[in-house]
Amino acid sequence: MSKFPNGAATPASVVDALKAIADTQPRARASFAQGRCVRGTYAPSDLAKEITKSQSFTKPSRVLARFSADGDNINIPLLRGFSFRLGSNGQRSEVLTQSVPIHFARTLDQMLAFLRARIPGPDGKPNRNKVAAFSASNPETRHQADYIAAHPLPASLAGTTYWGVHAFPATNSKGETRFIKFKVMPVGEEGSHAANQATANATDLLQSDLDSRIAARDLRFSVMALLDRPGDPVMDVTIRWPDEDAREALRLGTIVVTGVEPSEACDEALFNPANLAEGIGHPPDEMFAARRAAYDISQTRCR
Ligand code: HEM
Repeated sequence: MSKFPNGAATPASVVDALKAIADTQPRARASFAQGRCVRGTYAPSDLAKEITKSQSFTKPSRVLARFSADGDNINIPLLRGFSFRLGSNGQRSEVLTQSVPIHFARTLDQMLAFLRARIPGPDGKPNRNKVAAFSASNPETRHQADYIAAHPLPASLAGTTYWGVHAFPATNSKGETRFIKFKVMPVGEEGSHAANQATANATDLLQSDLDSRIAARDLRFSVMALLDRPGDPVMDVTIRWPDEDAREALRLGTIVVTGVEPSEACDEALFNPANLAEGIGHPPDEMFAARRAAYDISQTRCR
């Protein structure tokens, strides 16, 4: 079989294309391959139950989490990831977030075409003309790169904000459902936006920065729910909600990272964004539906 089969996009062909671009080890994750597994705790706020009846978010629990980096093959990560599992037996949820609030493609076909346009040629580099032509005819695929260029990442993981990107339907115990977006914000690091990407390569971030932050006990994050307004676009992951940064946000709870776990603990956990306990539903957009299968495929092939 060709490494890059033709035809309509499927979760499997997208996984192939992700791996071709990342050029990682055969057994590595298709995306966000570099990472570090950690443990911690989750403590809910009193307000969480107003938004969701999900016991994952309304009860205290242990947390298994993974910080990760995904980049451009030149050792400077463009994206950081933070995946976490919270809740206890039978009521677990997994939330996968990244350091940018939008995705680079609206549909699976567009995602596959975006990735294929960037697959390196014999010189190890993508064909610039191909990439430029694709961007020109698919302007929404520029949104993520434009956001990244305008918002340099802070030097530390402890100062990084992460987004769940999709609009998740959340249901409370009165049966009221509304859309929320997850935003995971550092606690006590609001002023740390002096970007210093030169020192923030993936290895430094995931090793020394993480170790020193954990030792200092200052790796904490508020898990926020950004609240919807009527008419918000919930089907398009390449655009933000109007005024999203100024949105009313409710703190669901706080994650404190307390220690490092062996990487096997996260490899065996097989995080999948479709694993959500009752009270937070699946986002309705096409990309979320594809993710459930894509993570299963990547995990079956890689580990
Ligand atoms: C839209 C927002 C998205 C976010 C926030 C996101 C976030 C992440 C994160 C944080 C990881 C690392 C997981 C870990 O630590 O174990 C990951 C892995 C991965 N992502 Fe996504 N992702 C997104 C979209 C997608 C889409 C649309 C696809 C494909 C249809 C996809 C395919 C994958 C695959 C195949 C992996 C590797 C899974 C594994 O082997 O465990 N992602 N993603």
